[in-house]
Amino acid sequence: MSKANDDTRPVRGMRDLLGQDSAGFDTVVDTLRKVAQSHGYSHIETPILEFSSLFARSLGEDTDVVGKEMFSFIDRAGQSVSLRPEGTASVVRAIISNGLTQKLPQKLYYWGPMFRYDRPQKGRYRQFFQFGVENLGEGAPLSDVDIVSLAYNGLTRLGIKSKLFINSIGDQASRSAYKAKLVEYFSKYEKDLSEDSRRRLTTNPLRILDSKEANDIRLVATAPSISDFLTVEAAAFFERVLNGLGTLSIDFSIDRTLVRGLDYYDHTTFEFKADIDGQSLAIVGGGRYNGLVEQMGGPHVPAVGLAFGIDRIMLAYDASKLLAPPLIAVLFVAKGDEPMALELAQRLRKKFNVVFPVEGNLGKRMKQCNAAGASCALILGEDEIAKNFVTCKFLKDGPGYTSGLERAVSGDTLEEFLTQTCFSGPNT
Ligand code: HAM
Repeated sequence: MSKANDDTRPVRGMRDLLGQDSAGFDTVVDTLRKVAQSHGYSHIETPILEFSSLFARSLGEDTDVVGKEMFSFIDRAGQSVSLRPEGTASVVRAIISNGLTQKLPQKLYYWGPMFRYDRPQKGRYRQFFQFGVENLGEGAPLSDVDIVSLAYNGLTRLGIKSKLFINSIGDQASRSAYKAKLVEYFSKYEKDLSEDSRRRLTTNPLRILDSKEANDIRLVATAPSISDFLTVEAAAFFERVLNGLGTLSIDFSIDRTLVRGLDYYDHTTFEFKADIDGQSLAIVGGGRYNGLVEQMGGPHVPAVGLAFGIDRIMLAYDASKLLAPPLIAVLFVAKGDEPMALELAQRLRKKFNVVFPVEGNLGKRMKQCNAAGASCALILGEDEIAKNFVTCKFLKDGPGYTSGLERAVSGDTLEEFLTQTCFSGPNT
């Protein structure tokens, strides 16, 4: 089979997560779930496949995500469906189709795979994972502060160094005035703009600020600033968001060009960026989207949300912190000792993670314990069973023990012993 047809490779831009990567993934999702719950969010699960028109209407026809990056296809019933490129549109759809716009606020979190047909590179995949939260129904600036602080708390708990960039793109009135000024400015340089930006000059001038083309970026640097066009109300709203962040001592930089890559935002937009192998990449992105529910056919519902990029967080995460919780191994010596060992493994699983290798002789099973990364092996033989103790052999160096050390431990105090030894270290 030629390399191009080798179907044992994953599809370009998609990858398997194994070993350290999958352990890191679990840690990140578990941590973010706890943080989202601590802010009063509950779980929502939406389908991975939605009608293509849902994304076109909500994210904007003219965005890169909709125009160039969707995995769309015609299903067997002849309908155009797409793999979700993000989660907000689906959550809004779910709120409307389940009649939840009558029960506000809805504070929901979700995580899972998203799909964008972008050029794959480090930190940019065609299948990637997000952890998102959406607050539907709350319109006060303090809700924006709460969302930003949720991101801050999640990243802090994961020990990730990042910088917060924040902006306000104002309300509709602010943006209409600003767009007119932008068109006036960029029209002067029309021939220098990229093809996409030239088109967006008439379709969606704000999108030019988000261009990745070098020439466009140069022109954006001296473009008029949204700050001069915010209405009094929009400026006051932004001020209150920034004051709230000040109260929480969350540092930020204002980035007047931060419009984000999706069309549904208004007022607050923000990103947390981290340095990943010398590249500054957004690891969290979000903002307010007061108009979206109504635009999708529901009532007026103010909303604000964000999504963490799990893949990028894993790249920014210190791998040394990815230690899984300590693992205990239970080993029987001879066949006759099996039932007692089986019972012991079952008993210890109430408190600990336990491996219980069952194939091969004792030496081979001991190797399996080492390969699994167990901190210690609890050995049960005839003698141990007769005298109600286990032989604990440490397989790693730890706070109160070294690899190779053996201890006879009474069966009655085993849990206490394990808690004090293997579980007293920094990785518990
Ligand atoms: P987004 O900025 O498009 O926002 O994506 C959020 C995060 O997902 C990014 O900051 C980045 O970390 C990660 N991400 C995006 N594309 C890729 C990719 N190709 N490979 C790896 N990671 C990627 C949204 O999706 C909005 N739905 C966020 C939101 C929720 N706004 C309001 N509510």
